[in-house]
Amino acid sequence: MDLFEKIAANRGPLGSHSHYAHGYFTFPKLEGEIEPRMIFRGKEVLTWSLNNYLGLANHPEVRKADAEGAAQYGMALPMGARMMSGNSNLHEQLESELADFVQKPECMLLNFGYQGVVSIIDAMVNRHDVIVYDGESHACIIDGVRLHAGKRFVYTHNDMESLEKQLQRAKRLTDETGGGILVITEGVFGMSGNQGNLRGVVALKEKYEFRLFVDDAHGFGTMGATGAGTGEEQGVQDGIDLYFSTFAKSMASIGAFVAGPESVIEYLRYNMRSQIFAKSLPMPLVVGAIKRLELLRTQPELKDNLWTVVRALQSGLREKGFNIGTTTSPVTPVFLNGQIPDATQITFDLRENHGIFCSIVVYPVVPKGVIMLRLIPTAAHSLSDVEQTIKAFEVVAEKLDKGLYSKTEAVPAS
Ligand SMILES: Cc1ncc(COP(=O)(O)O)c(C=O)c1O
Repeated sequence: MDLFEKIAANRGPLGSHSHYAHGYFTFPKLEGEIEPRMIFRGKEVLTWSLNNYLGLANHPEVRKADAEGAAQYGMALPMGARMMSGNSNLHEQLESELADFVQKPECMLLNFGYQGVVSIIDAMVNRHDVIVYDGESHACIIDGVRLHAGKRFVYTHNDMESLEKQLQRAKRLTDETGGGILVITEGVFGMSGNQGNLRGVVALKEKYEFRLFVDDAHGFGTMGATGAGTGEEQGVQDGIDLYFSTFAKSMASIGAFVAGPESVIEYLRYNMRSQIFAKSLPMPLVVGAIKRLELLRTQPELKDNLWTVVRALQSGLREKGFNIGTTTSPVTPVFLNGQIPDATQITFDLRENHGIFCSIVVYPVVPKGVIMLRLIPTAAHSLSDVEQTIKAFEVVAEKLDKGLYSKTEAVPAS
């Protein structure tokens, strides 16, 4: 069969919806400055779907550093992979500052988070080793695990009994192969907002020999007394052997890093294929990241403001009877009962009639019959934004309860 013909017939699970979804539900264009209020199809909307946790995306000092970095260095410098010709003092300075910030001896910059995680996993294990990972892990962890030539065991999300069982299986295998065990979890799970049970995982190190790799994309900058992440929040930062975060969220940029012991980071520098065979991060991104990190360190009020909004939003929703699950982080899911057509109509109603733009998640990410509205509060939101949103949610939830959405026409995406 011709591959292009096959693709024409099977668009994939998301692509099969593109004919009505594109430009509205998928690939929407949010225009204007990155702020809580942006423009969607010519109208102002209050946005709750950007992971700009600390409000740095449009911070004047960040904008200035980004512009000056681009003016001074251009986007090309340095050319080549770090190992060949793409290293610089500023790359190394950023690595050293990040290592200090997350309380680890050494750090390595990565061009992208997704690629970085896949490639770290690939470099850390061979066919004799076993990976044990949380069942609700992000796609980059799943895809890294898929590259693994040895055994992998999944444990039920945050369930320490299940983890222990899988560790026992892994130990039996590695006793035979002579390999090691890598446990992987997220610091904060980006859909549910649950923190990974890092304390529980670290406690199991007393009984089992393994190394712990944590993807803290949503916890870096938002969790812990200094913003060093979910390990700091739970008092177990030392128990995390490899700490990862992306710059795509609190840092409002592109890039990522992994931090850990000197010898392991040194090993990764010489063995991570996504970094060895790719151009290094452009200088303006490095300069911009140094500024962002300085703000994380010196302006704790950014995190305080974020949490003021988080608490108001989460307690306000709970008071009005909304089910926001088990979140213990800024990520705020709102669970409603309804079908996929209800979900598209709710999205439309929220955007068109209430001026609220948030992400909607349906089956298979959540069970059939459940609709999840996902809100990402940021330091840039105000308490009146929170109030407006909760009021809109009450109206929408009441309509859903009365079955009014299913009776209306499906929404156009023109
Ligand atoms: C948990 C987690 N890990 C990794 C990534 C990927 O990071 P990046 O956007 O830098 O590729 C994301 C999303 O951005 C994420 O949510």
